[in-house]
Amino acid sequence: MKVVEWRGKPVWILRRTPEMLASLPKNDPLVADPKSDKPYQMETPGYAKNETRSRAEHKEVLVAVGICSHLGCSPSSRFAEGPQPNLPDDWHGGFLCPCHGSTFDLAGRVFKNKPAPANLDVPPYMYLADNRIIIGKDEKGEA
Ligand code: FES
Repeated sequence: MKVVEWRGKPVWILRRTPEMLASLPKNDPLVADPKSDKPYQMETPGYAKNETRSRAEHKEVLVAVGICSHLGCSPSSRFAEGPQPNLPDDWHGGFLCPCHGSTFDLAGRVFKNKPAPANLDVPPYMYLADNRIIIGKDEKGEA
């Protein structure tokens, strides 16, 4: 995972393993907005309105604004699976907000019954090459 800054906000670029991607459907019944219908600070781009919340050409890469939709803390990565402090025993990896305990899966989707009301934002982004991403811009223009 890399963290870059866009408009003063941390943006996470996370390359997920095939195992991580395979774990996402297991979270569908547990997350509050599986299809990203409720935006936080920005509309989810159409190409990220899917289970992996990523573009089809690189499903393994998540691009998300690392700001909790509750009160704006930055969640910490908790990629290890299984029981650990402050997380459920059936944890499949994701993020934990240190402020009030909201949890997000590896697609930035918030789990139900947590203080955070919405998924992490996915900003507009596009690939300039296989290993180059531009954030804040896509086929529809500049955000
Ligand atoms: S700011 Fe993240 S849970 Fe409150």
